[in-house]
Amino acid sequence: MTDSSTNEPRRSAVITGGGTGLGFATAAALHAEGWHLTLVGRRADVLESAATRLAGPAGTIATAVADLAEPDAPAEVVAAHVARFGGIDALVASAGSYELVDTREMTASAWDSTMDTQLRGAVLCAAAAARPMVAAGSGRIVLLSSVNGLHSEPASLAYSAAKAAIISVARTLAVDLAGTGVTANAVAPGWVITPMTEAYLATTSPEQLQRVNPLGRAGRPEEIAAVIRFLIVDAPEFLTGATITVDGGQTAMAPMP
Ligand SMILES: NC(=O)c1ccc[n+]([C@@H]2O[C@H](COP(=O)([O-])OP(=O)(O)OC[C@H]3O[C@@H](n4cnc5c(N)ncnc54)[C@H](O)[C@@H]3O)[C@@H](O)[C@H]2O)c1
Repeated sequence: MTDSSTNEPRRSAVITGGGTGLGFATAAALHAEGWHLTLVGRRADVLESAATRLAGPAGTIATAVADLAEPDAPAEVVAAHVARFGGIDALVASAGSYELVDTREMTASAWDSTMDTQLRGAVLCAAAAARPMVAAGSGRIVLLSSVNGLHSEPASLAYSAAKAAIISVARTLAVDLAGTGVTANAVAPGWVITPMTEAYLATTSPEQLQRVNPLGRAGRPEEIAAVIRFLIVDAPEFLTGATITVDGGQTAMAPMP
């Protein structure tokens, strides 16, 4: 598809979890630059509301209701996007939830529930996106890890393992796709105010928040989206296989007594 005002090809991206939080903030950043987007999530009303908030003269916003924990859903979502927009320039894998489960209570279903979306869903989305990207000779894959991929917190056995694995996945994608024009990187946010965290953050005191990182505050979704946008729009091909922490200095700071 081309931009009628410039005759330049319009770029397009699939953003999983694009209806809320970090995915939505990324969608807003790319939409402002005229990208065509497919926002993927489980809830049609959330996606429609997000698409309505983004609507304007810029790129087309498509929505795809899908549970990415289902094995075939990632490939179907990417194929529908490619069929609609003629290709895929970027994939942002932001879908996921954070289920607190104490290690002593861990079950196969609790483990799978986190892993199926946070890890396998992201991997299968990346694999499905990589094929048309390689055929086109360019593409940008950005996966959401977390500071939990680098250190841990209570009751986060599956979540932290998934986020650590995402760091590894970004590395292997970068190796496998090297020389094709496709890069793969991960972003590891610290505490950011989104639907995933807002209930917990609402219970914390200002003093607790001040101790979480040297900046003494939670991040804003736009601050993570700016880094994801950089990886997609501005970063050179030489930046691949990396994980960028965006955490207010949380992982730079050792706890003090
Ligand atoms: N907010 C933070 O502090 C923080 C910190 C580090 C990492 N992250 C990661 O960033 C990503 C985005 O989180 P967020 O903070 O924007 O939270 P969020 O809850 O706003 O966004 C997650 C989105 O994923 C969707 N989703 C969940 N399971 C899905 C499934 N099976 N199929 C399709 N969609 C599904 C949800 O509906 C939601 O829209 C997640 O991977 C999260 O683990 C968030």
